[in-house]
Amino acid sequence: MKSPDMSKSTILVTGCCGFIGSAFLRRMVAQYPQSQFINIDKLTYAGNLNNLKSIEAKKNYHFIHGDILDRDKVESIFQEYKPNIIVNFAAESHVDRSILDPTSFLETNVLGTLMLLENAKKIWQSFDDKRFIQISTDEVYGSLSETDPPFNERNNLQPNSPYSASKASADLLIRAYYETYGFPALISRCSNNYGPYQHPEKLISLAIVSLFLKKPIPVYGDGRQIRDWIYVDDHADAIECLIQNGEIGEVYNFGGESEKRNIDVIQSICDIFDRIRAQKEGESRKLIIFVKDRPGHDKRYAMDISYVKEELNWNPSTSFEVGLNKTIDWYQKNEMWWVPLLQGELKDYYKKQYHL
Ligand code: NAD
Ligand code: TYD
Repeated sequence: MKSPDMSKSTILVTGCCGFIGSAFLRRMVAQYPQSQFINIDKLTYAGNLNNLKSIEAKKNYHFIHGDILDRDKVESIFQEYKPNIIVNFAAESHVDRSILDPTSFLETNVLGTLMLLENAKKIWQSFDDKRFIQISTDEVYGSLSETDPPFNERNNLQPNSPYSASKASADLLIRAYYETYGFPALISRCSNNYGPYQHPEKLISLAIVSLFLKKPIPVYGDGRQIRDWIYVDDHADAIECLIQNGEIGEVYNFGGESEKRNIDVIQSICDIFDRIRAQKEGESRKLIIFVKDRPGHDKRYAMDISYVKEELNWNPSTSFEVGLNKTIDWYQKNEMWWVPLLQGELKDYYKKQYHL
């Protein structure tokens, strides 16, 4: 099966009003003016049309407000646009919310994926330049100890949270479609992303916003858990690379080769903040508070990315230091984006999650 020609494709993307999907679209819509991009998004609390302001008027971009679980709507989108590439970002994505209520995670992340697979299978029989990219996560592999080698693509799936269990379930479904129907799918598993437009419920964005508001920064447990951080534009680049050069039926691990303990991440953010605000050294660290640990908290994630370096010639290009400075700078200049989010839903969530 030949690789699709990105310069004249019809690309259905899901969940691109969220953090990573919007970074991908901002890049791709400008880069491939002859291709059509159709974005279906339910606009949950995490979906934000402001993330796509810079491309909303482009001729090759179309937004459809809809749920990937809506059978009739999804079927009519496939009939009307006949996409030859699908990139599935749509998901409930926050571990803490999955612990509070797993149902929507299983619905969107598993049944939503099934809905897309079924519709693609129906229309793709006569296509020869088609591919389905599933945006999965390192969390499906479970947790590492400090001395384990990083996850590679052959590690077993051992998810520990309702979120990661739902993502692993979708990965298994995709594997089954490939094995049973020869369905042209590829899976990307990426580590923790950070960068502009991330909803302030995740560690880095929450810490930055808390600093601007002079509010406590909650660190779970002892803060010694480790994540492998990747700047969001590097993830967008990885997905573009996968569409063009990935092999059908394969799984690819992506990461930033930047393992950090949570407490070190937070302290770095505090120190950058002190510098840009010309505050006394150590001033911001006073806002750090240690709170009750997350149940089932995974100790460490780390990705072995030697396969994608070799097979796809892909490397992360943004160091953690550069990415973190760019991110803080963006939040400083874009209060108009995040201040409105602090009302309503997020306010209630902060109360429920942190009792703050
Ligand atoms: P996000 O929560 O910022 O955005 C999710 C988007 O999906 C939102 O726009 C939301 O409105 C939409 N959505 C949710 N349910 C939907 C439904 N039923 N139908 C249509 N749209 C729906 O998530 P993100 O951080 O951008 O993550 C995107 C994808 O990348 C997810 O699949 C996630 O599992 C995966 N991932 C995320 C990270 C990370 O660090 N954030 C790392 C690796 C993989
Ligand atoms: P998060 O950004 O939720 O990503 P994930 O759980 O998908 O890795 O959390 C990153 C790490 O930071 C994780 O170990 C949990 C921790 N954390 C805190 O310590 N405090 C917080 O308020 C949040 C949201 C996360």
